[in-house]
Amino acid sequence: MLRRSGTDAHAWGLHRFILAVQAGGIMARPILIDCDPGTDDAIALFLALGNPALDVRAVTVAGGNVGLHHTLRNARALVGLTGRAIPVIAGADRPLLGSFTSETRVHGENGIGGVDLPDGPPAAPGLAADAIRQALRQAGPADQPGAGLTLVGIGPATNLALALATEPALAANIAEIVLMTGAWAEGNVTPAAEFNAWSDPEALAIVLACARPITLATLHLTSQALCTPARIAALQDGPGTCRAAAAAIMATVPPTRRLAYAGHPQHDACAIAWLLAPEIFTHRDVHAVVDCTNGPGRGQTIIDRWSRLALPPNARLLDTIDPDRFFALLAESIAHLP
Ligand code: RIB
Ligand code: CA
Repeated sequence: MLRRSGTDAHAWGLHRFILAVQAGGIMARPILIDCDPGTDDAIALFLALGNPALDVRAVTVAGGNVGLHHTLRNARALVGLTGRAIPVIAGADRPLLGSFTSETRVHGENGIGGVDLPDGPPAAPGLAADAIRQALRQAGPADQPGAGLTLVGIGPATNLALALATEPALAANIAEIVLMTGAWAEGNVTPAAEFNAWSDPEALAIVLACARPITLATLHLTSQALCTPARIAALQDGPGTCRAAAAAIMATVPPTRRLAYAGHPQHDACAIAWLLAPEIFTHRDVHAVVDCTNGPGRGQTIIDRWSRLALPPNARLLDTIDPDRFFALLAESIAHLP
């Protein structure tokens, strides 16, 4: 059984890749997505669930952009819209310390810009941290052929940290952790901090210390995946309920002042795109830590891009993304959804 990366799907052409996966000749990459939907989380879920190169084992949910009661309903509705039978499991409704602060200015009161989606299937029983550990256990040791699980974190890292802290030995089953988190320049929630890192810096510190391969999609990267009115209009043309929902959700997000109102970053889908088309990125190895103090720097990710401290790298920093190829990948993947 060959395990192919998303690159093959891209190189082969998605249709041929789908046929090969369906014929059982290729094994899609097992992943688990932890999220806080969230307008951009919605697009990331559609990208992942629409592409056969990824085998989404579960979707776990935390509070963050909006409260857990909204993020959980949104995750169930989004997965339900794709028709995929993937378990959605509720997780943390607060960070390890304190409480989440919602970001309704970007995501609206309901978390997906006020777009009203039909209710999805009920959440699977249990808690996110346990579901993450169960999925890791089932995936087996990452150093074995065809084993291991990739964790994609596109919200506060609370659920991931709880899983790692309660059963550290399962880290050996992690093939890679891909996080949309952090900023090496200015933040988007404070001058120093990006929202996910700021929402639970202690959780991010636990994940950064797990000694497994970590890939970081920071604000500098995601700001290049700029969702402009033209790109939204291009997505609006065509069939499909998920495509229409994606375009409708994108259209609710206000343009970003930090980016001269030219559009808004498709933050979370960048983390998924890395797994599907790494060739559209450039990257470098870095040492990264997060500030857990209670001062003005709380939640700041200090990312040593030039190895000034000569510390061993603990993460791969995604530097650039080709936006046109990113949005083409997004459209191609969503086209495979109902
Ligand atoms: O800073 C952007 C990140 O915070 C994204 O994951 C967005 O969904 C919010 O969670
Ligand atoms: Ca998110």
